[in-house]
Amino acid sequence: PETGCLSIIVLGASGDLAKKKTFPALFNLYRQRFIQSNEFHIFGYARTEMSDDDLRSRIRRPIPALGFSIFLCYICLQSGLVQMKYTSGSYDTEEGFRLLDKQISEHEEAKSSADGSCRRLFYLALPPSVYPVVCKMIKLCCMNKCGWTRIVVEKPFGKDLESAEKLSSQIGELFGEHQIYRIDHYLGKEMVQNLLVLRFANRLFVPLWNRDNIDNVQIVFREDFGIEGRGGYFDEYGIIRDIVQNHLLQVLCLVAMEKPVSLDSEHIRDEKVKVHFFFMEMQNLNQSVEPIKDEEVVLGQYHGYRDDSKVPDHSNTPTFASIILRIHNERWEGVPFILKAGKALSSKKADIRVQFKDVPGDIFNCEKQGRNEFVMRLQPSEAMYMKLAVKQPGLEMSTVQSELDLSYKQRYHGVTIPDAYERLLLDTIHGDQQHFVRRDELKAAWDIFTPLLHRIDIGELKPISYQQGSRGPAEADELLLRAGYIRTHGY
Ligand code: BG6
Repeated sequence: PETGCLSIIVLGASGDLAKKKTFPALFNLYRQRFIQSNEFHIFGYARTEMSDDDLRSRIRRPIPALGFSIFLCYICLQSGLVQMKYTSGSYDTEEGFRLLDKQISEHEEAKSSADGSCRRLFYLALPPSVYPVVCKMIKLCCMNKCGWTRIVVEKPFGKDLESAEKLSSQIGELFGEHQIYRIDHYLGKEMVQNLLVLRFANRLFVPLWNRDNIDNVQIVFREDFGIEGRGGYFDEYGIIRDIVQNHLLQVLCLVAMEKPVSLDSEHIRDEKVKVHFFFMEMQNLNQSVEPIKDEEVVLGQYHGYRDDSKVPDHSNTPTFASIILRIHNERWEGVPFILKAGKALSSKKADIRVQFKDVPGDIFNCEKQGRNEFVMRLQPSEAMYMKLAVKQPGLEMSTVQSELDLSYKQRYHGVTIPDAYERLLLDTIHGDQQHFVRRDELKAAWDIFTPLLHRIDIGELKPISYQQGSRGPAEADELLLRAGYIRTHGY
């Protein structure tokens, strides 16, 4: 890892994202000594007037008091051992940014290492509408003169292909791709990072991972709560833009991609981006068929969604979507990938379910018990398990479905699984872009979903109402069965 004095500049420091995600992640990295108090300095910047101490207490507040090491870190934060500075200013004028630059430079002069290198990490915990102007201000006023400058941005990156491309060009004119870190926090999750290892380091899976053996794949995100006061944001975006086009599609690419040449971040992202091109079925050389078919989409909206004061009475925004994507290549032709996401459902869970085909010439009548299924539970309680047919223990020769179960809590007892944001922030400090979305990936993802989204936006496709606390619209279960999924026990 690179060394030298490190300035982490959180823009939007008084906001919700910074409070809930950015600062706790920084605090934990510091607590675990991934960043050292003698080398880093946090700079908060936002429009709200507040003092350095207010910033300190914002950072402290959301972290639960859990023992001595955390207590010690509190003391360090309090005593000023961890250096922090807050500046208030607007996002579209130079004045505040010039002041910010002056403060960073002073810190750098005081701390600069023998080789004089410094690192500036700008974390934009801000709405995307201000990204272009803020990037412009950083470029004008705050560029590092003796080391790197990196920019971290959060989704939503646009609302459709056109707006995303516009945003990408605006930022791309100011910063090189190697300086831009687009966060999709699902790429920072332990089990998502596990996918490459599982697929490419296990001989068991290598020959099975294809259309000859796999019948269907589901990638599912469920939340057991609704939009909880985020009506303004959510109604503009909906579940497809919020979850499916980014988090679930990223996971799909890791499930479906070919083996990368190496673990180099460009090699991995090259393979991920290729998957997108196979969603389009080519009719002839110049014409591709729409990747998503109406009969393979179920949209839902939970009953009570429109009660939110920020949601219009006639909102057509889906809070649930089940969508089938098909990959037209040699490995996956004919295997449906079902992406499902919903708010206000019966449980909070995210998993990947790979269902295998039936054994030809089954002599045990296993079909009745269900198929082999490999499940990776991303959250809560990370786990992976394989559903297998085994002999029912006892004198009789009958089969039962059982599980080879790797539950992380039991197997890795005492090991803390880092939060996605901690991992991703550390990657940005180390300059590892593997778990960040490259511009061409982003464009390809919007390519797939934009036609469908536009049809929903103009009301051509309408969500079906479903009860809060349910499994979502019954039509989604029917779609799943039509796709060939055979329900196994407990699902
Ligand atoms: C965010 C979405 O990206 O992910 C939220 O905007 C959603 O709507 C959240 O609740 C889910 O993240 P996680 O890590 O809890 O699955």
